[in-house]
Amino acid sequence: MKLKKAIIPAAGLGTRFLPITKAVPKPMLSVLDKPTIQYIAEELSSIGIEDIIIVVSPGSDVIKNHFGRYLELEKRLLEDGKTKLYEILCDTQKFNVQFVVQEVANGLAGAILCAEPFVKDEPFALLLGDEIIYAGENDKPCMKRLAEIFESTGKSVIATMEVFGDDVSKYGNIGIADEKDGVMQVNAIVEKPSVNEALSNNAIIGRYVMSGEVMGMLKNLTPRGNEIYLTDALDILAERGDLLASCFDGIRYDVGDKAGYIKANVEYALRSKEIGEDIKNYIKELAEKI
Ligand code: G1P
Repeated sequence: MKLKKAIIPAAGLGTRFLPITKAVPKPMLSVLDKPTIQYIAEELSSIGIEDIIIVVSPGSDVIKNHFGRYLELEKRLLEDGKTKLYEILCDTQKFNVQFVVQEVANGLAGAILCAEPFVKDEPFALLLGDEIIYAGENDKPCMKRLAEIFESTGKSVIATMEVFGDDVSKYGNIGIADEKDGVMQVNAIVEKPSVNEALSNNAIIGRYVMSGEVMGMLKNLTPRGNEIYLTDALDILAERGDLLASCFDGIRYDVGDKAGYIKANVEYALRSKEIGEDIKNYIKELAEKI
């Protein structure tokens, strides 16, 4: 079945980034010159998904503005013959994005359920807003790999990366029953285990393709406190043998974390044609002093 829809939960309050997140929604924090939410929407271009629903916090109009038209500026750039800048502007306006507000902070599954009227019982891509994934020229984009696995098997599939030591406790963790051509059959999931409880060194990252039944499963799960856990639905799929996992090419940046955010900025700056050389020289000079 072809994947047509995507959900990007991006409703966190961003308290780790206060004070900037007081007035600027976290998904609008910029890596180089683009907000993180645009990088994530662009990952979907690799699989031709244009219908995107972004789950936002109340008061996130600035995100809507970012993806909407800016007629006055379009006109001005065209009149001034600034075609490159005009293209950059148009790149922000090419997505078919809808927004839904998550009124109550009831976790990741709560955010996904906000998108239910839009997705209904169709399969959907799920991209967590705190992570961006850079794919180099020879890399297959992570979402493309997941979509191909889903479309050939019909099973839900999650992206994973290898982690070691205490880092296993930062992520969802999978048990692996079998592996063939880089595709793992998942038989159990444990959310943020202690080092001793970890089932493997494979951590779940924020990229998923969920089969059409998952939305219904989330609706029927028993909440824990006031939160419904996506992991509980994944666990049911895993026990039934209906959950696959795959590693990915490229580099994942945790832009929800201050250090990860700065690293992303440094590396995107180094790749930039405009300022890459300047930044490389600066880093070399700096490295000698520290
Ligand atoms: C969520 C998921 C977790 C996953 C992580 C990836 O956790 O619950 O399984 O490993 O995203 O970033 P969060 O970071 O939102 O606490």
